[in-house]
Amino acid sequence: MTNVLFVCLGNICRSPMAEAIFKDLVLKAGLQDQIQVDSCATSSEEDGHKPHPGARKVMAAHGLDYSYMHSRPITRQDFDWADYIITMDSQNVFNLNQMAPAQDRSKIQLCLDILPDKRGQDIPDPWYTHRFEYTYQVLCSALPAWLDKIKSAR
Ligand code: 4NP
Repeated sequence: MTNVLFVCLGNICRSPMAEAIFKDLVLKAGLQDQIQVDSCATSSEEDGHKPHPGARKVMAAHGLDYSYMHSRPITRQDFDWADYIITMDSQNVFNLNQMAPAQDRSKIQLCLDILPDKRGQDIPDPWYTHRFEYTYQVLCSALPAWLDKIKSAR
């Protein structure tokens, strides 16, 4: 089993969309018994909240299920559980490096680092930009490459 954890600041915009998109890719690849997917937040700000209405609208428009999702902050067990911790921006990376047990720090990855022409870039935060569909498209440009990498590492 390979465990993939998507993390952003609030776990109501970017990481829930990443979770839903990646679960769909895993399902379409027939790998749902081998790859588990979850998401969480670096902050407790939105703890218990459903995805943002803008994220819900985009997920619904693309046929993705978000009905079970609620924001939650990352825990010590998440760092242990995850094989890949895929984050949305450099602030997430900084915050997670502060929180992570030393042996888990190497799991922390920046989502767009998987694309050679977007290395080091942040996933735009629709909390600020209100461009939920654009964020969805950026995630869709990167996540198949993550699935390829995870498949080839297994
Ligand atoms: P997310 O977006 O990290 O993509 O879920 C945000 C959600 C909430 C806040 C900021 C960003 N906030 O400040 O509460």
